[in-house]
Parts: sequence; structure tokens; C-alpha cells
Amino acid sequence: MKDTMDAAALDAEAERILRMNDRGGYSVPTAGLYPYQWNWDSAFAALGYAMFDLPRGWRELEVLMAGQWADGMVPHIQFHNVDPSYFPGPDIWGGVGPVPSSGISQPPIAATMARLIYELDPSAGAAPMRALYPKFIAWHRWFMDWRLDAGAACLTHPWEAGRDNAPDWDGPLARIEPVGIDPYERRDTGHVDPSMRPKKSDYDRYLWLVKQGHDCGWDQARLLEINPFRMADPTMHFTLLRAHRDLAWLGRELGLDTASLPDWIAQLEAGAETLWNAALGAYDVRDTASGAWAQAVSNAAFLCWYAGIDPKDSLATYARVQAPVRFGVASHDPESPAFEPKRYWRGPSWAMMNMLIAMGFDEAGLPEGAALRDSTARLIAENGFAEYFDPLTGAPAGGRDFTWTAAVWLAWCSPNVGRGRWAR
Ligand code: DGY
Repeated sequence: MKDTMDAAALDAEAERILRMNDRGGYSVPTAGLYPYQWNWDSAFAALGYAMFDLPRGWRELEVLMAGQWADGMVPHIQFHNVDPSYFPGPDIWGGVGPVPSSGISQPPIAATMARLIYELDPSAGAAPMRALYPKFIAWHRWFMDWRLDAGAACLTHPWEAGRDNAPDWDGPLARIEPVGIDPYERRDTGHVDPSMRPKKSDYDRYLWLVKQGHDCGWDQARLLEINPFRMADPTMHFTLLRAHRDLAWLGRELGLDTASLPDWIAQLEAGAETLWNAALGAYDVRDTASGAWAQAVSNAAFLCWYAGIDPKDSLATYARVQAPVRFGVASHDPESPAFEPKRYWRGPSWAMMNMLIAMGFDEAGLPEGAALRDSTARLIAENGFAEYFDPLTGAPAGGRDFTWTAAVWLAWCSPNVGRGRWAR
């Protein structure tokens, strides 16, 4: 960024994108490619809106949590207004909640974003936070009931981690024979160059996994028996542990019942050990069926500081994966043969992951946090508000005018707006 004039123009552009993607109480990640409300996108959006319109920030979280299922799950997509430009839609998913939805969840960052928004103005935040609190508790309980393996948080579909086509899932997905899925037409590759998206072989398996859930009415006990895809994953684990901590803080602040949280936190602190791959020097994905490591250094590995757990050798590994790229943090190890700098979660850098990683660095007193913020600010200033970026060149990739990149700009990168307001 050349000067604060440039920053002011970027602030205005980010605000314009957030307003443009506002569908009235909830936001879409970007028009066309993702025309619905996505769970973790929405949580970042809430923080972004809160930077210029605090009530709108709270509203985003209220609408998100209103889609909660009776069992506590908060779905990864809510289909508020059916749009044929996206596939797979509500009929394929067969969600059983109060709003047509998908049947899986997504990394639970909403309670963490709620805390950040609350801290902007505690007196304005007390009432909305009190109403949201039991819903967050129920959602977090659902993870503890249905997504734990040896104390590590798991996902049951690549879309649940948000890291759809990460090389982490290649081995376990290859073992699935995607038989019995109806013929389908993808819509994502009509919006974005196919070289930046998952391959058809991945999509077949994504849909096969959706069919498993649909066919049993998303009965979690049944899915535990039949779903062959259950990965203990740093994304789910670290975001959940962090979210438990922030919820406990909010509960204490507001004098609410925090009784379950210390035990949940202790379980996840212990379970983090089962994700440490010493040979890799990083927290890694573990296949709960086979016990095999993914052997993949992803950007999610560096959420260990954000979760407040022992990073072990992670800082050395971080330095190694940052060295060959101009704009990290690459979503997959740039020295791995599976690295593809433009293909979604197989290499590109994601601004919102960078924000979470840097929150952890800042809290640990590490200078890497400010360095990552500055490089992400430069990345956005030079390349716009893309969904993700080529880490070697910074070239924008995926969707454009993207909600979470705009939110992250305002809340974390902008010297005029968010920076310093909430970063601890
Ligand atoms: C998509 O459609 O690519 C989404 O990532 C699914 O959540």
C-alpha cells in the first residue's frame, strides 16, 4: 500500500462489496458462484459489517444461528432463496432444519467473531450476545457429541472443513467408489476457470458423501456407522477450541452458564496431541479409519497459536513454507508435489486464514503476526478482493468482489478502520 489515500479507497471498496453482497440480514460470499449464506463466510462478514454498521454485524450472526437444527448443528449453507446458478441445491442435500440447508457444518468461528464484535461495544453487544449464547453452546455441544475422535475434532465431508480439495483428502477420497449418484451438471465451473476449482473426480465423491447423509436423514448416529470419511483435522480442531475459549470468556463476562466449557476445552487441549505429526513437524490431518497421516502441511496447521496450544516445531515449518512464496500462507506446502498455486485449497493463499493465523501469532507475542498482516494488506491492495490468491505471484483467483476478503481488509488490514481496534 503506497499511502493512506490508497487505504481509504480500499476501505470504500471493501464497504461497497459488503453492501453489494448483503441480501438483507445475511450476506452471500459473492454473487453467482456462491448465491447463499455460507456459515464461516457469514461469521467473517459479521465482523466486516460491524466495522461500519454494528447492528448489521449482529444481525448477520442472528440470521446464521436462526438456521440451527434441533440437534444443535448449524449448517454450512442456508438456502434462503433458491438460485439455480448453484449446485448442489437444497433438494440434493435434504437438510432437516428450520431453513432449507445443507446437512454438514463448517469451522465454528462464529463465537470468536461474536467476541470480537462484542468487544467493539460491550453495552450494545450484551443483548444480542445473551440471545445468541445458548445457541452457540448447543452448536459447540453438537461438535463435542458427534465430531470427536480421541479428543480431536473431525469432519465428515471435505466441505465441512471449508478446505474442499486440499491434498489432505486425496488418499481417503480415492478409496471411495462413487457409485449410485445421479448424473449432474456442475455450476461452479461456469463462474470460475476450471483450473482454479476441484476436479470432477472430487465432485463425484463430494456428491456421494452428500447422498449418504441425505439417504439417512442426516442421522448422526447412523452416519458414524456408515460414513467411511472421517478425518481428524486441524481446521475443525483449532477453530472449535478457540471458539470454546471465546464463548467461555463471553459467558463469564455476561454472567451466563459456562459449566460445560472447561471440560470441553480440556478435552480438546489433550486431543491436539493426536494431531501432531512429529515427522512432518506440523499439526496434520489423521484419517480416523486407518490412523494414517495426510502428510500435508496446510495453512490450517498454523492455527495452533490461535487455539492457544503448544506449537512445538510449527514456527520452523512456517518459516520453511513461507520462504518460497511471495504472499503466504499457502494452503498447501509449496515444496510438495501436490502443490498447485491456483487450484483452490491445493496452494492458494486465503486472506481470512491469514487473519486467524496472525491473531494467534499476535497473542503469542510473535512478530510474524504483523508481518503476515502487512503482506496480506499488500496482496489485497495490489490484486483486489479475490476469493483467494496465487501465493507465488499474488494473482487473484476464484470468485471476485468477495465478502470475506473485504471483511478481512476492513477488520484487520486497514490502517484506518479495524487495525488496532480489536487485535490483541
Ligand atoms: C462449493 O460449492 O465450492 C463450496 O465450497 C461448498 O461448500
